[in-house]
This record gives sequence, structure tokens and C-alpha cells, in this order.
Amino acid sequence: MHISNIRLKKIRTFEDIELNLTNGIHLITGNNASGKTNLLESMHYLATTKSIQNRNDKNFISWKIMQESALPIGKISAHINTLDEIHEIDMMFSKPIKETIANDNEPSGKITKNFRLNGITKKASEIIGTLRAIYASPNDMQIILGTPAERRKYLDILISQYSKKYLKNLQKYNRIIRQRNSLLKQIKHIKKRYDELDYWDSELAIAASEIINLRSENINQLSARAKFHYEILDNKNKDLKISYRPALPQTFDTTKMIQIDKDYFIDILQKNRPVDLRQSSTVFGPHRDDINIDLSELAANAYGSRGQQKLITICMRLAEAHLSNQVTNDQPILLLDDILSEFDEEHRNYIVEHAANVEQVFLTSPDLSNVPKKLIDRSIQFNINDGNIKQN
Ligand SMILES: Nc1ncnc2c1ncn2[C@@H]1O[C@H](COP(=O)(O)OP(=O)(O)O)[C@@H](O)[C@H]1O
Ligand SMILES: [Mg+2]
Repeated sequence: MHISNIRLKKIRTFEDIELNLTNGIHLITGNNASGKTNLLESMHYLATTKSIQNRNDKNFISWKIMQESALPIGKISAHINTLDEIHEIDMMFSKPIKETIANDNEPSGKITKNFRLNGITKKASEIIGTLRAIYASPNDMQIILGTPAERRKYLDILISQYSKKYLKNLQKYNRIIRQRNSLLKQIKHIKKRYDELDYWDSELAIAASEIINLRSENINQLSARAKFHYEILDNKNKDLKISYRPALPQTFDTTKMIQIDKDYFIDILQKNRPVDLRQSSTVFGPHRDDINIDLSELAANAYGSRGQQKLITICMRLAEAHLSNQVTNDQPILLLDDILSEFDEEHRNYIVEHAANVEQVFLTSPDLSNVPKKLIDRSIQFNINDGNIKQN
């Protein structure tokens, strides 16, 4: 798939820009803080309806407009060409009316978001995956060095884009876990009936087992592909392995490919109920999952060099693009945000050579000095300056 048109109105550094695009490699240069990341992040937002940086959505609207206008509206619109269709996505960000009336022009409070697909209002979950995007940046180090929550977010962003089943179960699971935890609290205090808990356990188990099985399957697929790239790039031939570490009791054998059913998970919940009740929270389940990233059996966060950690993350991104394509039979777009300076020439060549197989690629860099010549010759070049973007 590819983006054939994108328009950003009052989004971050952009007052109003529109780009007509084709497939191929798009090279975007521009000074620091010119808005390269803002552009790529907007594209990623179209795919995921989430900010990469976990930043508040109000940050998407241009600050100037937030302050100056009573009803600020930022808008990202795009045409997405898939194998056989063209979809139109519109995403509008506006300040809640209540807040505007209160004459409070400070950019505070929550932004109202509206999403449209082909002109029809949709929920975020109905838009996610219409465009699929893989975003790579130097911040990817957080996948290795960050918290389990960041790694779960990584998995969720990847799998949700190509599996509606995953996204649905994830939303359902998150809702039920909140309800179950609040019931646990109530039972602790006022001895609410246990059979209510039986009901939530059963509902939770359906969603949990689906998520666990899908995570297991997808992580295995990802691991095999990332390992393939890593072996070529690390001349010490270190063995990269990404493995699922589900939050299940230790008796569970995680060395096997994990496939569990609803009853198995209900059993876990029931056995652990006294502990859950004491803590008013659910100890086991996908909300506490993690992944291990190892080089030759040693944890990459503790034993890998920074260079190796960077290589791992780009191998993971290339693997994601491959996986997303294989599952859907249509390539995701690839957003490579300022990553080339992180690598030596040999690795840069390998990365761009593989990236160039993807239908549509956006690659940002302050200038062309780190961009392999071969790539420059076959790319479409843009420059961002002072809120404007021009094709060279
Ligand atoms: N909501 C916003 N409104 C206006 N400008 C913003 C907003 N959010 C970020 N910026 C500006 O965007 C710039 C950063 O853009 P970025 O895309 O990260 O640059 P680059 O990737 O080219 O270095 C900063 O100057 C920042 O002040
Ligand atoms: Mg940037």
C-alpha cells in the first residue's frame, strides 16, 4: 500500500501542506526542528490513531492555533492506495466546546478527536490498520531498554494494525480487567458475591487466551525474521532471539510455542484468586506480559553493546515490515526517521537496500551526507523549511 495524498492542516509546525505521493523512496531533508518527525508521526498517527511519543493528542494541533483561535481544529487527511482500493482517512482534532466557552484558551484538557473513513464517521478501532505503517527512529532503543509496558505497546501497535481479532480482544481485555479489579476491591470491602467474579473470569479468559496465542505466534514469526537480518549484520554472528514471556504462573513451560485455551486461563485465575483478592488486582495475564530480547542467550539490555542494541531494533523493524506484508499480502509503508547516522556505512547500505524493497518508504535526514549514493539516485527528494515542504 502507499499514501497517494496527504494534507496536514494546523498540525504541529504545519499551517497547511499537501503532498501528492507515489510509491518509491521519499527522502526528506531539513534542519533540526524543521518538522521531519512531525510529518512522519502524522503518517504513523493515520495508521495507529496514537502518538508515537505517548504525547497528548492536543500536541498535534499547532500551538499557535490553539492559542489564537476559539475553535482550533487540526486535521490530517490522506488517500491510501491498497492493492485494489483507495481509502480516504480524515482525522480531526478540536478543542472541546465546553472549554472554549469557559474562555480558557490555554491548551489544557482533552482534545476531541473525530475520525472518518471514506467520509463516514468511525471509531478509532475501525480505522486502525487501513494504513499500516512501521516507524523506526533512534528512540527504538526503548524497546530494548525500556519498561515491559513499552514492549507491550510495541507489540500492540504492530499486531493491531494487521489483526482486527487482536485489536478487538485487546480492547475487550482492557475493559474487563478494569471491571474485574474494581470488583476485587469491592469484594474485599463489602463481600460482594463471588459468582460475579466467576462471570468476569470467564470473559477475561476468552480475551486473554486469544491475546496470548496471537502474541506467541507473532513474536515467533518476528523473531525468525529479525534473526535472519541480524546474523548478516553482526559479524560476530550473534544469535538474536526474541521470545515471549507471558505473565503466567512459573509452572508454565514458555520454551514451547505457547497455545492455551480459555479453561486453562480460568484455572489460573481461580487458583490465584486469594492473592488477587488480597492485592485487589489481577496478577496473571497479558496486561503484565513481556518479551525477552537475547543475543546468544544473554539479555540484550544488560549484555549487548549500544551498537548491537541499535542493530537489533532496526532488524526488528525490517522484520515487522516483512511480517505485516506476509499476513496481509500488502506491504506496509516504512518510516525511517533520522536513523542513518546511527549506523556505519556497511550497515546503512544493508538497511536501505532492504528498506528499498518496500512499496513506499519515507526516510528523513538533516542532509544527504549519511544517505547512500545509490539510494539518493533513485529517490524522490523533499526539503522541509519554515513550515513548508518542497519537492526538489
Ligand atoms: N503542537 C505544536 N505546534 C507547533 N509547533 C510544534 C508543536 N509540537 C512541536 N512543535 C515544534 O516542532 C518542532 C520539532 O519538529 P520535529 O518534527 O521534531 O523536527 P525534526 O524532526 O525535523 O528535527 C519543534 O520546533 C517544536 O517546537
Ligand atoms: Mg526528528
